[in-house]
Amino acid sequence: MKDLFNLEGKVAVVNGGAGGIGEALATGLATYGAKVVVSDLYEEASQKVAEKIKAETGAETMGVGVDVTDEKSVEDMMQNVVKKFGKLDITVNSMGVNIKRDAFDYPVEDWDKIFDVNVKGTMICCKVAGRIMRDQKKGAIINLSSVRGIRGYTGGNAGYCATKGAVEMITKTLAVEWASEGIRVNAIGPALIITPGTKHIQDNPELAKKYAAAVPMGRIGQTEDLVGTCVFLASEASGFMTGQTLFVDGGMTAS
Ligand SMILES: NC(=O)c1ccc[n+]([C@@H]2O[C@H](COP(=O)([O-])OP(=O)(O)OC[C@H]3O[C@@H](n4cnc5c(N)ncnc54)[C@H](OP(=O)(O)O)[C@@H]3O)[C@@H](O)[C@H]2O)c1
Repeated sequence: MKDLFNLEGKVAVVNGGAGGIGEALATGLATYGAKVVVSDLYEEASQKVAEKIKAETGAETMGVGVDVTDEKSVEDMMQNVVKKFGKLDITVNSMGVNIKRDAFDYPVEDWDKIFDVNVKGTMICCKVAGRIMRDQKKGAIINLSSVRGIRGYTGGNAGYCATKGAVEMITKTLAVEWASEGIRVNAIGPALIITPGTKHIQDNPELAKKYAAAVPMGRIGQTEDLVGTCVFLASEASGFMTGQTLFVDGGMTAS
């Protein structure tokens, strides 16, 4: 049987690729053979991660600075990718922000900022990648949702949960609209994953215990826990799947 997970010859863009999860996913795609473009807000950070992945995997990589809320910036970047590599097979949208605010006093400007990056940014990246993939009649888009896209949560997360609910519906709707164009749109829905931004939770035994207790498998997720799912959704192994979110959550959303 052919290697269903092989990504040799594929070209992938990982937006938010210099972030904790983005770097792990970009490394995973490169390990399975893809050429990987690391795209993030700051070019220097993207280039650093791109170099690291190249050194670790031997894959061809490139690091670019892109603001996903700026359509022109995304358009220029993806056109450059096509110019350099000849095509775009895979786009992972792993950028994101959370601004925790009490819902009674949620400042509108914070609401706008979080929606700008998480929702508008995701739609812009899907739209720009989708147009290129439509011309190719093939492509795989993977959005980063969250268990918070289908489960409410306390602690000032009204904005974040709402944006991830929107990512869920962007994923499903584009999957249906673009299925006939050969473009698959799926999502990964992680529970808490330890990254530089959430490391303080792992470092605090009491907090770590509290978060782990909410997970049936009894532990907090690590970035490596998401890699197999991303490779699966990017590859032919998931060729008849679109519009799905795979929750990588130790059983959290099953309970
Ligand atoms: N970690 C978790 O527990 C968890 C759980 C479920 C879902 N998720 C989702 O998974 C994704 C990745 O999360 P993460 O934990 O890896 O977060 P992260 O480490 O903060 O990575 C997110 C990246 O997005 C970048 N970014 C922010 N605004 C941007 C913009 N306008 N244009 C381009 N890039 C931008 C950030 O750059 P700067 O750092 O320079 O701002 C950062 O490098 C997010 O969508 C998040 O909501 C995370």
